[in-house]
Amino acid sequence: MGTTSAQLVWRGSPGSGLRLEVGGREVEVAAAEPAFIHLSRPGRAMPTAPRSGPGAGRLAHARYSYLEGGRFLDARWPGGPGSVVLEDLAPATTYEVVARARGVPPFLACRFTTLRPPPGRLLARFATVSDVHIGEKHFGITGRIHDLGRPAYPVRALQAALDEAAAWGAGTVVVKGDLTRQATPAEVRDYATVLAGSPLAAHTMLGNHDSNLGVNVVGLLGSLGSHVELRPQALELPGLRLVLVNTMHADPHFHRGHLPAEEAEEVARLAASAGGPVWVAMHHPPELHPWPTCYPPGVPHDQSMALLGALSAANPSVLVTCGHRHRNRRYNYGDIVISEVGSTKDYPGCWAGYEVYEGGLVQVVRRTARPDVLAWTEATRRALNGQWGRWSPGRLDDRCFAITWPAP
Ligand SMILES: [Fe+2]
Ligand SMILES: [Fe+2]
Repeated sequence: MGTTSAQLVWRGSPGSGLRLEVGGREVEVAAAEPAFIHLSRPGRAMPTAPRSGPGAGRLAHARYSYLEGGRFLDARWPGGPGSVVLEDLAPATTYEVVARARGVPPFLACRFTTLRPPPGRLLARFATVSDVHIGEKHFGITGRIHDLGRPAYPVRALQAALDEAAAWGAGTVVVKGDLTRQATPAEVRDYATVLAGSPLAAHTMLGNHDSNLGVNVVGLLGSLGSHVELRPQALELPGLRLVLVNTMHADPHFHRGHLPAEEAEEVARLAASAGGPVWVAMHHPPELHPWPTCYPPGVPHDQSMALLGALSAANPSVLVTCGHRHRNRRYNYGDIVISEVGSTKDYPGCWAGYEVYEGGLVQVVRRTARPDVLAWTEATRRALNGQWGRWSPGRLDDRCFAITWPAP
């Protein structure tokens, strides 16, 4: 949901000839293939792409088979998942979406309300992705959800997210860590190759998965054209200072975040000297409670309090955004808005766009819509007996919101 746009995404469609009527306009949507799921039994070998039969000779990514009982879980409706972005909507306006298909009478599919933009002119657009995990080969707590497509799902999810963010109007992307599964040289190279093919100016941060096996990830990325700054770093966009804060611990076995006091003080100095609002990116979310309330753990509570306290004192206009938990959430520490944005490669499979206004900031989380990515991320919804699909997306206002900064 944006100020003048809205993305509609569906798990299945009622049939061919799907039409959506919104605000007096009608959109015809191409039918997509159903997202079948491949769930192997625990301990079973990873499946291979079909060499004969109807799936042979074509990209296998759009077709997953479901072994248990031979049922196709998402085939209650004949059309598969899909997405459409509606543009040129009125801000702060409620719309009804009426859907119909061949042989299916019109029905109210949903209602939505566009965001009210902050005051002033739109100055810039940029984007973030996180938790791309190049090298991952299956999903789910027991690794039972497999992908048969090529390139592998983390690669095509990142490619598509960057393409869609660029098409949306972002010129810059910040990658908020967990670039790889376990930071092998091949995974790091694959990440750098995807970035090199993107039109976006990319700024890379590291996550806990990017410190492993003794590989010099910073040096390797640097040699491949992706500079990583481990110290807090400021980037200037019109109307907003971006501050990138690496929270990865030097010890590869230490998966929670780490932010020493001198780096928190440096972040606060960068916020204080910005002369305007500040957007802070970290891989690990801050822990607001003395005991962990969510897995995986973020930056330890004492370090989080030191950072947030110093940021509050330094600047009244701050958004902190994080990755790591592969979920969408929004909460506050005093006046500081904190958002967590989900992974590119598992449900809901998303990227975040930011619109910088003279008087505020808009965050819009979009699901990556490329059909071979949407088919995969829909399949991962089934992880944890379906709980992943309920827990990870968050509410609409966790994902999409507008902030008006306090008057200077
Ligand atoms: Fe991650
Ligand atoms: Fe992480």
